[in-house]
Amino acid sequence: MYEQVSHSLLNDILIGLDPKVGCEDLKHFYIRLGANFYAIHSLFHQLYGDRHDFRPQLQKLVEVMARQYVNRRPELRRSDLAREKDHNWFLSQELAGYTLYCQEYAQDLKGMHAKLDYLQELGINLVHIMPVLDGPKGRNDGGYAVRDFRKIDEKYGTLDDMDALSADMRSRGMLLVLDVVVNHTSDEHEWAQQAKQGNEQHLDYYYTYPDRKIPDIFEQSMPEVFPETAPGNFTWNEEMGRWVMTVFNHFQWDLNYKNPAVFIEMIDIILFWANHGADVVRLDAVAFLWKKIGSTCQNEREAHLILQLMKDCCQVTAPGTLFIAEAIVAPLEIIKYFGEDAVNAKECEVAYNATFMALLWDAVATKKTLLLNHGLRNLPTKLDRATWLNYARCHDDIGLGFDDNDIRAAGYDPQAHRRFLVDYYTGVYPDSTATGVAFGRNEKTGDARISGSLASLAGLEAALSSHDDAAIDNSVQIIILLHGMIASFGGIPLLYYGDAIGTLNDNTYLTDENKHHDSRWVHRPTLDWRKAERRHEPGTVEHRIFHAIRKILAVRKQIPAFADLNNREIFETSNPHLFVFMRFTAHGIYSRVLVIANFDTAPHILNLTELNTVNLSERYETRDIYSNQCIATQTGTVEIPALSFYWLQL
Ligand code: GLC
Repeated sequence: MYEQVSHSLLNDILIGLDPKVGCEDLKHFYIRLGANFYAIHSLFHQLYGDRHDFRPQLQKLVEVMARQYVNRRPELRRSDLAREKDHNWFLSQELAGYTLYCQEYAQDLKGMHAKLDYLQELGINLVHIMPVLDGPKGRNDGGYAVRDFRKIDEKYGTLDDMDALSADMRSRGMLLVLDVVVNHTSDEHEWAQQAKQGNEQHLDYYYTYPDRKIPDIFEQSMPEVFPETAPGNFTWNEEMGRWVMTVFNHFQWDLNYKNPAVFIEMIDIILFWANHGADVVRLDAVAFLWKKIGSTCQNEREAHLILQLMKDCCQVTAPGTLFIAEAIVAPLEIIKYFGEDAVNAKECEVAYNATFMALLWDAVATKKTLLLNHGLRNLPTKLDRATWLNYARCHDDIGLGFDDNDIRAAGYDPQAHRRFLVDYYTGVYPDSTATGVAFGRNEKTGDARISGSLASLAGLEAALSSHDDAAIDNSVQIIILLHGMIASFGGIPLLYYGDAIGTLNDNTYLTDENKHHDSRWVHRPTLDWRKAERRHEPGTVEHRIFHAIRKILAVRKQIPAFADLNNREIFETSNPHLFVFMRFTAHGIYSRVLVIANFDTAPHILNLTELNTVNLSERYETRDIYSNQCIATQTGTVEIPALSFYWLQL
């Protein structure tokens, strides 16, 4: 948009641009800056307009964008242009993701090259390598407490190793996802060190207070993220003689985005990693970016303004780079991280679908889809050009953040139902074969979350140790069913390392002094490559799971109706064990796929006349695209075997 105040300001800024930057061919940069500058200026003004240094800070921001554009390699600039043309590229059903820890998966970055073959064999083409940046040993929250945002931790390798890996991935057509931990730094980060020494400039990078007055006011409305291990939201720092805000662990200092210098540093870091080949940047803990007294300090309006500004700036320099919002919040809140009142994502193009994930686990525990159906009804429709990451497990715990009203509508009492789920997955509930571990029990609220590997939560660990073949079959079926769901729901399926070979819980964390207090380590094992080899031996659990998931991903890629174009209709049926939805093509040759999943341990019948837009009952049979078998429909019903799904071609 052309608007005179921002336009004349932009002219002044460009005249003052660093001559080294100014002499580059900046044609594409200028066009994009012109297109976005009105928005950048107004967002920056909303956030920082009342500061005396507003203008020099804005000048600095433009300089950062220009400098990083100059640094952007030709092949990345070409990829930007190609993605601008094919702007729906990331909604394709051909994407399939995988999250891993570099060390636990491949020892180090160099080791990753050889292990990309395994991922390609599985059908993966988007790989999220969790944080590999320099951090203190032990006190680093699995890499999410960063000491230097531009340095690879020695145990993983060097920046050159990362460049070589990203080049290898690019040549194989694989996308690289890297984290930028935007909300906090390690207490050993240089900014924190400076703050500890009383440096005013860096004290202003964090929220620090000389006494408990303000922290106590904040605490009245702020929930605790890690109530067991890091209660409260502030930590006393002896060196500094001040309280510092630490929402997560006491060694993770929250950054103060009220200071524009923090924003500019962070955008510089995001662009740095975009220039080192990150196709997608996962922005960690974005719900927490803005702190306000009297609020929960989550999902604040200004947090969204910051993300919009980050997106607008990134589009100027590296428009092919996507953002993932890591915000594990309620459905009505999560949807806002795509950006409101828009068609294209204004903030992050991709967000974790934690709602769907937790609802799937509810369906597994209850063997019913009552809450799943209710909960999804209240998941607002996302923007056209935005997509979900659909996952069954990740490196974090499973939070039971369902809406109380949905739980009631499904016929359960909210508190009792949450307690049931924790009991179920920790194996306390009498009929349960799950072997998870509670995480973050909050004695004050009675809440808890759940840790555990997918296979152990699905009962495989217990089934294997009791040599119970029927139970083994059930848990293998659950694992496959969950992957069938994340691959067909709409969005990018994101697998967690080890799950495709049925990796069980790993209790070795209990003997590690830096880990034993955090049960999430139970599902962060070193990948057992001998176990992975068994995927080649028919009859083994590894073979069954691996080949089923591989097939799920391969078949998904052939189904245009599985691209994520808001092309889904969920059906309510009278059978409480079934989850039924239709996917259809939004463009091109019309095709429809009916997904039917049965979460019970017994077979169930779907009465097709209940699906008013589907007229299958006149047909004799229809094909399940996944198994490539014909399914009888002539009686107007379909029978779905226990813990199974169909992808019926209509
Ligand atoms: C994100 C990460 C989690 C980490 C937290 C604090 O939620 O996924 O592992 O503990 O941020 O950085």
